[in-house]
Amino acid sequence: MKRERRTRSDMMRVLVVDDEADIRELLDLTLARMGLAADCAGSVGEAKELLARGHYKLCLTDMRLPDGAGIELVRHIGEHCRDLPVAVITAHGSMENAVSALKAGAFDYLAKPVSLEQLRALVKSALELPQRNESGETSAARSLLGESPAMRQTRDMIERVARSQAPVYISGESGSGKELAARLIYRLGARREGPFIAVNCGAIPENLMESEFFGYRKGAFTGAETDRLGFFQAADGGTLFLDEVADLPLTMQVKLLRVIQEKRVRMIGATAEEGVDVRIICATHHGLKTLVEQGRFRQDLFYRLNVIELAMPALRDCREDIPLLARNILVRLAGASGEATPTLTPAALAALSAYPFPGNVRELENVLERALALMVGDAIDVVDLRLAPFPQGDELQQGQAPLQDYLDQVEKRAIMEALGKTRFNRTAAAKLLGVTFRSLRYRMERLGLNE
Ligand SMILES: Nc1ncnc2c1ncn2[C@@H]1O[C@H](COP(=O)(O)OP(=O)(O)OP(=O)(O)O)[C@@H](O)[C@H]1O
Ligand SMILES: [Mg+2]
Repeated sequence: MKRERRTRSDMMRVLVVDDEADIRELLDLTLARMGLAADCAGSVGEAKELLARGHYKLCLTDMRLPDGAGIELVRHIGEHCRDLPVAVITAHGSMENAVSALKAGAFDYLAKPVSLEQLRALVKSALELPQRNESGETSAARSLLGESPAMRQTRDMIERVARSQAPVYISGESGSGKELAARLIYRLGARREGPFIAVNCGAIPENLMESEFFGYRKGAFTGAETDRLGFFQAADGGTLFLDEVADLPLTMQVKLLRVIQEKRVRMIGATAEEGVDVRIICATHHGLKTLVEQGRFRQDLFYRLNVIELAMPALRDCREDIPLLARNILVRLAGASGEATPTLTPAALAALSAYPFPGNVRELENVLERALALMVGDAIDVVDLRLAPFPQGDELQQGQAPLQDYLDQVEKRAIMEALGKTRFNRTAAAKLLGVTFRSLRYRMERLGLNE
C-alpha cells in the first residue's frame, strides 16, 4: 500500500471479528483496498475491549465465535454504540441466523463465502449512513407529526430501522401514514442517494406483473420492441416499496420470493440472471399474518418480508395529537390557497378529539378540507366538520376494541353532539343528555374532553 498517502491511523477504521485467521486476513486486505483500516478480534471478549477503546465506522462479525455468538455482539453494540453499524457474516444458506441478527439490530448480513462485490456494497452503504445529531431525532423524522407516546415510539423505530438494510413490513390501518413512514425510512437511510421506487401491487394487471417487476428483453414477446427495465432494476442501489403487498397473486409471490432470496433477477427473454441490490419495504392495511393463516399469502414470503415490523398507530390511539395535526393540516391547506389559516372553535376541536377516525390522518385531512370549503366566517365549527353521527360498529365486530373503549367513544360522541347543539353550553347540554351538570362535568373529565 505504498500509494496510500494517509497512514493507517488516519484512516476510517472497521472492526473485524472472526476466529479464523485467513478470513480476517481476507477482510483486512479487501478493506485496505477500499482505503479502510481494520482492527481484528478473534472473540466476543476481544471485540468488546476494542470497542471500548476505538472509534469505528463499521463492525463485521462472524456468527459463531469461541466465547459466544455474534448476535451477542450485535446486542452489545446496540446498547453501547448505537450509531455503529454492525453486519454479521453467516454460514451459507443459514437464513434463520441472518434474520435473527437483523431483528437484533444488525445493519446487514453477508453470506459465506463472502462475495467481494457484496462486501463492497455493504461497506459503502455503512459509510454513507447519515450522522445523527446529538439531540437524537433527525429533523426529517419530524415530518411524522405527533407527540403522543405511540407516535414518538414510531418515530424512534423509523430512525432505527432506517439505519439498517433489513426488510421492513409496515402494518397499520388505512390512512395511518404507512407510505409516509416508508419514505422516511428511505430518506433517513444509507440508500437515500439511490432510487425509491413505489409500486402499488394492487394496481398492476396480473398478466403484466412479471414484465413490470422483472423487465424484458427486446423480442421476448410480440410487442417487446426494446429492452425494458423492471421495478427491480429501476430500484437497484435503492429501495423498492411494495405497497398493498397483500394484493400480489400467489404465483407472483413465488417469483418475488426467489428474487429476494437470490438477490438476482432474470429479465423475461434474457438468458442470464443479474444481481440486484435492493432494500425491500412493504406495506398493507390487511393483517398479513391472518392472510398467511388463511393460505392467501405465502408463509415463506411473509417470513422474508417481515424481518422487522413497523406498526403504525391508529389516530384514535394518539388522540392527544389531533389538535397538533389539525393545526398543521389547516396551515398547509390555507397556505396552498393563499388564505389566512382558520381556527377551530373549542367545540370543533373537542368533536375532532372524540371522533374515532376509522380513516385515520387521511380522514382528518379530508374532514378539514371539506370544512374549509363549508365554513362561513373565520372559524371552523362542529357543523362544518360533518362528522359521521356515531362510530361505526365494525370495530366491535372485529373484536379489536375493548368494550370500554367502544362505550367511551359512544359516550364522547353523544356529549360532543349535545355540546355542539348547545354551542358548548354545558348546562344546556347536560339537560339535553338527561344528566346532571355535575355528572356531565365528571364524564367530560374522565373522557379527557376538558381542554
Ligand atoms: N403522523 C403524521 N403526521 C403528518 N401527516 C401524516 C401523519 N400520518 C399520516 N399523515 C398524512 O396522512 C395521509 C395518509 O398517509 P399515507 O398515505 O402514508 O397512509 P397509508 O397508511 O399509506 O394509507 P393507505 O392504507 O390508505 O394506503 C398523508 O397525506 C400523510 O402525509
Ligand atoms: Mg398507502
